Amino acid sequence: MKITAKELRQKWLEFYKSKGHVDIGAVSLIGDGTTGVMFNVAGMQPLMPYLLGAPHAQGKRLCNVQGCVRTVDIESVGDSSHFTFFEMMGNWSLGDYFKKEKTAWTFELLTEVFGLDKEKLCTTVFEGNASAPRDEETAKLVIALGVKPEHVFYLPKEDNWWELEGTVGTPCGPDNEWFYPIRNLENPTFPDDYVEIGNDVYMQYKKMEAGYEPLSSKNVDTGFGFDRMLLFLNGLTDGYQTDLFAGAIAKIEELSGKKYSEGGETQRAMRIIADHTRTTLMLIGDRNGILPSNVGAGYILRRIMRRAIRYCRQLGISAATMSEVAKIFIHEVYNDAYPLLAEKESYILEEIKKEADRFEATLATGMKEFEKCIQGIARKNEFMKKSNPEYQEETVIGGKQAFRLYDTYGFPLELTEELAAEKGLTVDTAGFNAAFKEHQEKSRVLNKGEAKGGLESHSEMATKYHTATHLLNAALKVVLSPDCNQKGSNINDERMRFDFNFPRPMTEEEIQAVEALVNEKIAEDLPVVCKEMSLEEAREGNFVGVFGSKYGDVVKTYSIGEFSKEMCGGPHVARTGVLGHFKIQKEQSSSAGVRRIKAVLQ
Ligand code: ALA
Repeated sequence: MKITAKELRQKWLEFYKSKGHVDIGAVSLIGDGTTGVMFNVAGMQPLMPYLLGAPHAQGKRLCNVQGCVRTVDIESVGDSSHFTFFEMMGNWSLGDYFKKEKTAWTFELLTEVFGLDKEKLCTTVFEGNASAPRDEETAKLVIALGVKPEHVFYLPKEDNWWELEGTVGTPCGPDNEWFYPIRNLENPTFPDDYVEIGNDVYMQYKKMEAGYEPLSSKNVDTGFGFDRMLLFLNGLTDGYQTDLFAGAIAKIEELSGKKYSEGGETQRAMRIIADHTRTTLMLIGDRNGILPSNVGAGYILRRIMRRAIRYCRQLGISAATMSEVAKIFIHEVYNDAYPLLAEKESYILEEIKKEADRFEATLATGMKEFEKCIQGIARKNEFMKKSNPEYQEETVIGGKQAFRLYDTYGFPLELTEELAAEKGLTVDTAGFNAAFKEHQEKSRVLNKGEAKGGLESHSEMATKYHTATHLLNAALKVVLSPDCNQKGSNINDERMRFDFNFPRPMTEEEIQAVEALVNEKIAEDLPVVCKEMSLEEAREGNFVGVFGSKYGDVVKTYSIGEFSKEMCGGPHVARTGVLGHFKIQKEQSSSAGVRRIKAVLQ
């Protein structure tokens, strides 16, 4: 190793600190909902308000190394260059220095600190369009620093403009990208022999529906891929051979008795297990950690985990491999940069185990079901061909079948698609979505039909909050005291409010424990079962009642697994898995002896 991951991290931060920057550290990987993105996909994302002009408490020169999760390419993970988690080395000027200083520092860092050859450096700048001028200023500056004039290229917006796709009201601008030859070739030609190593964005605009508005301050937003830079500075081309992955791969080799160097499917499986395990522990171990579930970010996590487990099986090793690999990342790779992971270690490992157990329990039967689908298609093809040799073979797994695999056996659609692809088949995803919708519709109608004298015309979100209220009620009894009782609740599409008797404010730990317990029950995807019974039976069955005597002789009850039992009019969701991530936003006093919790589902 010419440079280790820990050294690179430190070099970046030390360099920018020496230029007056404050290391602001990394923030949560989980999007806070303000930008509509589930995960942090770029280092600048958490700094959005400051890039738009709000003053930052730590000044105008900031730097950090920020974790990012990008999941659009999950299926590509397995080759040498795709990852679902990576880190971005960043630094920012919030209305402070601009192009002159930034070009000089990037040049100094690349050539003096990292030792790159200035004769080989190439750089691209924005060629200009109706929104922003051609960036001749940057071109002149980099040439004056020592970049060869013939190594400076003007490129259009597709290449040299940075913005967060699919967003509005976000900062953006032309960028200056830096390139270096792969393998440090003698006579490289641009762009064929080059890779991008990072970029400086000159963020002067705000992206609006109608176009780009100039910002009052001129910012710089720099991003250099940490994982890629590490690879590159070590003269490697396989992203899984840096010291970030060495321990993980060695562990998988040890447990499977196979060698990474075998290449082919073995190598691919090892990369998938390593990458997905890392992302899993980063998402669960995050300060706003999530758990696998059937919706939103939780579903992405579930997909990642289940894909890793499947590849463990392919290598002939158990899902427990993920925990072993996770320990290496936690203790040997990210112990300095992410100390929270070690603190949350037992929780992370437990959650990995739970999901693995859940999946393994259904995987075997699910695989049988999948094989049946395949055989069914093969039989049909054979039969049809007998009578009609011209018959076009069926190559698509039906949407309803895919939905059954999802609903009954916990197969994420993408898993079915991947398994199908291995057999040269595709999946009717439109049919899957239709079956999914139909199912949701059915449970909604069912819930409404059952609701009778309860809450009418509930939106889907409010229904979810209603079920979440039951989970919260039960969780409070576990964490705080069995004597905590509901004193009131108020739900709308955006949040829930819940009042309960308790003599003092909850501590931070208690709040976290309640959240964790509710999220655990969501992740368990418990069935919500409605039953009518006499008031007496309900009391005997320990069903909790909110409004006491207001009930008639026959009452409706809802049980959520064994966890919660309440008399209630409904409606509720069919299973807790659809609730998403439960987060307590506020805990405050409501009246004497009564506390109030405001919480959201994300
Ligand atoms: N925001 C820029 C990027 O993500 C630096 O590449």
